[in-house]
Amino acid sequence: MELLGKIKGKTAKIGIIGLGYVGLPLAVAFAEAAFRVLGFDAQQNRVDWVNKGRSYIVDVDSKALAGVIRKGLLEATTDQSRIREVDAICICVPTPLTKTKDPELSYVIDESEVVSRYVQKGQLVVLESTTYPGTTREVMLPILERSGLKAGRDFYLAFSAERIDPGSKNYNVWNTPKVVGGINPKSTKLATLLYSQIVDRVVPVSCPEVAEMTKVFENVFRSVNIALVNELAHLCEKMGLSVWEVIDAASTKPFGYMPFYPGPGIGGHCIPLDPYYLANKAREYDFHTRFIELAADINEHMPYYVVSRISDAMNSKGKSLHGAKVLVLGVAYKRDVEDVRESPSLKLIRLLREKGANVSYNDPYVVSVRISENNLRSVELTDEQLASADCVVIATDHTCYDYKYIARKSSFIFDTRGATRKLRNKNIIRL
Ligand SMILES: NC(=O)c1ccc[n+]([C@@H]2O[C@H](COP(=O)([O-])OP(=O)(O)OC[C@H]3O[C@@H](n4cnc5c(N)ncnc54)[C@H](O)[C@@H]3O)[C@@H](O)[C@H]2O)c1
Repeated sequence: MELLGKIKGKTAKIGIIGLGYVGLPLAVAFAEAAFRVLGFDAQQNRVDWVNKGRSYIVDVDSKALAGVIRKGLLEATTDQSRIREVDAICICVPTPLTKTKDPELSYVIDESEVVSRYVQKGQLVVLESTTYPGTTREVMLPILERSGLKAGRDFYLAFSAERIDPGSKNYNVWNTPKVVGGINPKSTKLATLLYSQIVDRVVPVSCPEVAEMTKVFENVFRSVNIALVNELAHLCEKMGLSVWEVIDAASTKPFGYMPFYPGPGIGGHCIPLDPYYLANKAREYDFHTRFIELAADINEHMPYYVVSRISDAMNSKGKSLHGAKVLVLGVAYKRDVEDVRESPSLKLIRLLREKGANVSYNDPYVVSVRISENNLRSVELTDEQLASADCVVIATDHTCYDYKYIARKSSFIFDTRGATRKLRNKNIIRL
């Protein structure tokens, strides 16, 4: 039977490659929609966990995962020759940066090579990883055609980036619209039909390049607006104004404004990295993406700015950062997640330690972290820890923290997230 009929009849078997923050929720969503799903991951321990129905991703409930495993709808494997068994393949592998902040496409390239060995006539291949416009057609397509099959005729190829918002209580796979662009109309049609089985609204666009550009543009938009508000935070501090009060007031405008918040920097696998993919590609067109570079410059400077503000604040109390006991609250890159990738807290801790501070951290989601060759373990959040710290830094505003309690027990707080902005307490300094 043709793929179209198999998707409509829910008899299509879906392959998900890369069972991480993006791939695992997707695999569970297809399985919950009654499709048989084969998940592939290079890490044996991840495959074992999935097959035991144990989730390692905060947005995937172990009960839901165990439910689809029990029903035989989801299975995980490291054996990529089983790509032959599936009808559609969604590739969700990492797209990091090199040390010099250039796109590191090796995961996408390696995986395309693997798929080219096993791709079958009639299969649909979709890239979900965030990348620069042109990756699907210029990088993946020629590799996949080494199989001897012709893209768009023998197999179908599209791009559709994941848009998940980790830790969000409001948005999930089902209610976040998905943008799809295929290399030809049939590829777009098949990918659109596939995703409409699990997503309320699928938005087809004319080509993969538009879909790829849409995803990076969304992340550039966030990066630029966060940089703008980070800059405003600097200015407000100089002018003796509360940036938090300004944002709250501006947010009352019902049109033409949306709030972004300052913080100790940006983290996660998207906003700090993806804009560089576009900036890099733009150079091929003799084009300099000034907004992207400026935003990255401002955002990446934030941990340094926070450390200098903490140092100044301690100095004004007659204390020095050198030898001070500093307790950092939150090392995840954003509230209510366990992900520490690119987290500004890690940079903050490293910089504070370089200044001679004695730093410990608490994070209910993160048991331990590695910073400059050292393993740090989360300390318990007790009266004693708070009272004995010369400075408590709120670096991630997890909702489970009791900020009133933290403020009561601490002698000095530096709040980088505005988590305490409703509290009146002279021992708190905010960004
Ligand atoms: N995390 C997010 O919030 C988010 C949101 C939207 C888009 N994205 C994008 O999605 C992509 C994946 O990100 P992620 O956060 O899920 O990464 P991740 O590191 O959580 O997961 C990637 C998984 O792929 C596996 N893997 C790597 N190479 C493989 C291979 N050749 N074969 C099989 N498995 C392989 C890894 O073992 C890992 O489990 C990236 O391009 C990212 O930019 C991420």
